[in-house]
Amino acid sequence: MQDSFGRTINYLRLSITDRCNLRCLYCMPATGITSQHHDNILRYDEMLRIVAAATTLGIRKVRITGGEPLVRKGVIGFLEQLAALEGIEEIALTTNGILLADYAEELYAAGVKRLNISLDSLKPDTFSDITRGGDLGRVLAGIGKAEQVGMKIKLNLVAMRGVNDHELLDFAALSIDKPWSVRFIEYMPTIREQQWQHRIISGADILALLNQHYQLNPLTADRFCGPARPYRIAGAAGTLGIITPMSEHFCGSCNRIRVTSMGQAKSCLMSNDAVDLRPLLGVRQQSKLIDALKMVICGKPEHHCLGSDPDSTTPFSMASIGG
Ligand code: GTP
Ligand code: 5AD
Ligand code: SF4
Repeated sequence: MQDSFGRTINYLRLSITDRCNLRCLYCMPATGITSQHHDNILRYDEMLRIVAAATTLGIRKVRITGGEPLVRKGVIGFLEQLAALEGIEEIALTTNGILLADYAEELYAAGVKRLNISLDSLKPDTFSDITRGGDLGRVLAGIGKAEQVGMKIKLNLVAMRGVNDHELLDFAALSIDKPWSVRFIEYMPTIREQQWQHRIISGADILALLNQHYQLNPLTADRFCGPARPYRIAGAAGTLGIITPMSEHFCGSCNRIRVTSMGQAKSCLMSNDAVDLRPLLGVRQQSKLIDALKMVICGKPEHHCLGSDPDSTTPFSMASIGG
């Protein structure tokens, strides 16, 4: 279905839990966030009903997000049911990788062939600082396993001044031997941590640094690039991507809506509004559910203003929406 600005919406990001086994400093305060009570989180059958309704409007791709999706019990069975839904052509998942070594094989068998993995440092101590206690070794083992079972891998690195900016070239180098897409993401001040302005490194600065050391060739964006502007280091097996939500939003080509684990449908990551789908999840209410999703798509704003006017968005944790 097209929204009111002519964009085709065919991609749903579905957060299946707000819980996480890490507390990344760009996502949560040090104390973490209060998790929702179980009763407030949609059951899997309710989520399947939402996705089935969304397919009637042209949704073809679903990305599973969290919190950390792999901490939710029964995730593999859910994914199998999701893959069996008519109209779903692609299922992808965004994970922090901590539990990936345990799940990679089952995920692949369940139909998840593409993984986006957050990896903000290649140094154990820095990784632990950023994630507040995360074990880099487990994530690297998870990536190894995912590669071994045949997953297509994208790495997400949120670039932060004074935190991991000395590692940007090391990350780029990963794409030389590995067929991965290494993506550099501008830090978004979603939780408004102190001195967030200082943290942001613009996509232009990242690109300038990479260009000083490598011959980067721009690539034509394809349907797998998402919000990333793609490049390849000459001769590299993998690609690089620059994601610039702050300095140059990519809303003109946005194809997505979101549903949170609490059943709130959002037309935009930065939108302060949501449509509550929970009263519409009864067995005989599918047409109302479809109408509500239509309303969400029609109400999708032309673009967000986080880059130019951060106060236009109420602070939130990415874990509560799924990024
Ligand atoms: P694919 O295109 O399916 O690979 O997904 P993706 O790259 O959009 O997803 P991923 O979960 O890996 O997110 C990468 C980064 O893009 C994260 O920082 C997300 O928060 C951000 N992001 C994803 N979608 C949007 C969006 O619609 N708007 C903004 N501003 N940021 C987004
Ligand atoms: N800015 C940029 N990216 C973020 N993510 C989470 N919080 C932020 C933020 N404040 C990313 C995570 C994950 C994806 C879902 O969103 O690193 O890869
Ligand atoms: Fe967890 Fe992802 Fe948030 Fe990190 S960014 S705390 S891994 S939800």
